[in-house]
Amino acid sequence: MPRSRILVIDDEAAIRDSLKMTLEYEGYEFIGAATGQEGLTLAEREAPDLVLLDVKMPGMDGIDVLERLRAMNDGLPVIVVSGHGTISTAVEATKKGAFDFIEKPFASDRVLVSLRNALDSRQLRDENRSLKRAVEVRHQMIGDSPGLKQVMAAVARAAPTNATVLIQGESGVGKELVARTIHRNSLRSRERFVQVNCAAIPEELIESELFGHEKGSFTGATEKQLGKFEQADRGTIFLDEVGDMSAKTQAKVLRVLQEGEVERLGSARTIKVDVRVIAATNKNLEEEIEKGHFREDLYFRLAVIPISVPPLRDRPEDIPLLVRHYMDYFSRENNARPKRITQAALDALQRYRWKGNIRELRNTVERLIIMTSGDTIDITDLPAVLRSPGANHAKAGGDADQIKAGTLREFKDNAERAFLVAKLRENGWNISKTAEVIDTPRSNLYKKLEQYQISQESDG
Ligand SMILES: Nc1ncnc2c1ncn2[C@@H]1O[C@H](COP(=O)(O)OP(=O)(O)OP(=O)(O)O)[C@@H](O)[C@H]1O
Ligand SMILES: [Mg+2]
Repeated sequence: MPRSRILVIDDEAAIRDSLKMTLEYEGYEFIGAATGQEGLTLAEREAPDLVLLDVKMPGMDGIDVLERLRAMNDGLPVIVVSGHGTISTAVEATKKGAFDFIEKPFASDRVLVSLRNALDSRQLRDENRSLKRAVEVRHQMIGDSPGLKQVMAAVARAAPTNATVLIQGESGVGKELVARTIHRNSLRSRERFVQVNCAAIPEELIESELFGHEKGSFTGATEKQLGKFEQADRGTIFLDEVGDMSAKTQAKVLRVLQEGEVERLGSARTIKVDVRVIAATNKNLEEEIEKGHFREDLYFRLAVIPISVPPLRDRPEDIPLLVRHYMDYFSRENNARPKRITQAALDALQRYRWKGNIRELRNTVERLIIMTSGDTIDITDLPAVLRSPGANHAKAGGDADQIKAGTLREFKDNAERAFLVAKLRENGWNISKTAEVIDTPRSNLYKKLEQYQISQESDG
């Protein structure tokens, strides 16, 4: 822990000297100011953790200084000290946001106790703030592509209602994030968000999991158990992978949606529940209905508000934003210095097909932050699949050619061409600079440009 810095603003040199001794003896760092004006300057320049402020000073008086300090940084605790301790000064100081008020002459113990309290409460508040920030950042939906904006608009429309929501989309596109965002912005946000992964629970347990059971209702049911629907009462239940529910479970869930009541296994009693249902699946439910795997009536009940989250490759505009977001996030998480990323590396990330969508992108960025030793992430730092221009890339044109490469020669040429284009872009199409960066004579670079017919104009 760094030593806390205490700024003492007092016109009496004797008081400053005695506080300097006490504070330094206790392990604090002392900064002294003889006037209000000097105090304000030092408060700005030295970023103290706490201020001890005298009220009665020639020139700017302590209460004025207090006001200015609060305006400058309202998180900075100020303890007001006064030898002319009338009640009214104390009240005024407290009203203006002083943490504590101490009368002169003071015992150094009194000052130290107040100081410790103020510093502790400040630390607590800072911790709370960073915790809250961490939670917010974790649940942020990043992106400004038209596709994602549509999703956000649907989330905003769905959130304040009680309507069931069906979220569809490939694995890793953010379905769970959408579900949680809806809950957090709903009138039920203070109640529970209960998640059930229908694909992960064995068929013979899912009903008891969802609806609960009475003691002894089946072999192994040694205790009564509340079902997830009951647990979610007044809140939201998130039926994840709803496309994987058996026909029997589908029928029971339909009943909850229709009647608003559940029955525990082994009990004839019905229990009313007030639950908002959000369901998600990466299956195409319309197709599952065709195949007879999913009940159409349940589908309509669930899809009152349908939200379809597009795959990442259909919204490449979001990729740079997500990359920066996760670079920041994982740098902070790993206490690493923030890194930069080159345009070429970003371009490669943007071209990739991301079959695992945002989850895959997130994992890739986390790995890059940990594995890249320098402070710039370049194309050479990317995993091979991302670097090789042919494999798995989304954009047509230049890159589709890579897949068509039949011979090793063709492949090498294609790769070389893509590399050169990327490096040229990175260096603003400055030939000399690019040649220097890739360590080849300028003449050779010109030859290659000619050979591959590369020009800035052809790079759309
Ligand atoms: N728009 C977004 N901005 C930031 N992070 C996102 C975004 N969308 C998804 N994520 C993150 O990507 C990861 C995967 O998202 P999530 O678990 O919601 O996907 P999913 O669609 O439920 O996947 P699966 O079908 O595999 O269950 C999570 O870490 C989530 O926080
Ligand atoms: Mg999920």
